Amino acid sequence: MKYPKYERLGRLRKYLQEVHGMRRLKADRELWAVLDPICKASSSTGCTFHEMYLLYSHILRKKPAYVLELGPGVSTIVMGYAAKKLRASGHACQVVTMEDIPFYYEDLKKLLPAELNDCVQLILSPTEDREVNGFIARRYVNKPQHEYGLVFIDGPEIPSQKEDPRYLDGDILDVAEWNKKPFTAYLDCRIGTRDAIKALLPQAVIHWDRQHMFSRVTIPAPSLDVHET
Ligand SMILES: C[S@@+](CC[C@H](N)C(=O)[O-])C[C@H]1O[C@@H](n2cnc3c(N)ncnc32)[C@H](O)[C@@H]1O
Repeated sequence: MKYPKYERLGRLRKYLQEVHGMRRLKADRELWAVLDPICKASSSTGCTFHEMYLLYSHILRKKPAYVLELGPGVSTIVMGYAAKKLRASGHACQVVTMEDIPFYYEDLKKLLPAELNDCVQLILSPTEDREVNGFIARRYVNKPQHEYGLVFIDGPEIPSQKEDPRYLDGDILDVAEWNKKPFTAYLDCRIGTRDAIKALLPQAVIHWDRQHMFSRVTIPAPSLDVHET
């Protein structure tokens, strides 16, 4: 059943979050000087300002040494400037971002400002599909193994949940296996991936923002494997 009053309140909340996100990003003048012309030239950036601000502020608050992005774009620039700001305050931070299509890889290479060269590692890599408990996990083959504090899942392209519900963007499974510490992942839309994560990583705590179609996934530290003798 739909409740029009709550739908309207939800849309108002989304609008206010969007304005807030844009203002906060604008406050970083270096970032805004790059972001503003890109946003004006393009009708869609992929992420909304609210979502980009969530990623930006997460990096500044949690100070991850490594960030992994699957599917780069304008969001890469936003996270790159957050990493640059952290590095200026003495914290190591590197954004690793994975692309599988040469055309978009070359496009983004041209778009990335030279001042982000140290902060962003853009990698062109093929993807592969692996069967995991009845699901098909599509992953970037050549992603480097680090202890990632933040993962942003916006790729690779997979069939929609309606087309084939077995597919997920599966790189998070590798990070969950590699990491010794807890980490956070954000997901843009990708409802099939969200549902597959629920099934494959039962320890994950998932917060779904229906208005923005954005999920926050928290993966706790793996429990110690203590064997009694
Ligand atoms: C949704 S985009 C990533 C957007 C980025 N994370 C953002 O929010 O700014 C994910 C993938 O779509 C592909 N892509 C990029 N630009 C595209 C375009 N204009 N049309 C279709 N696919 C695109 C690329 O392969 C990219 O890795």
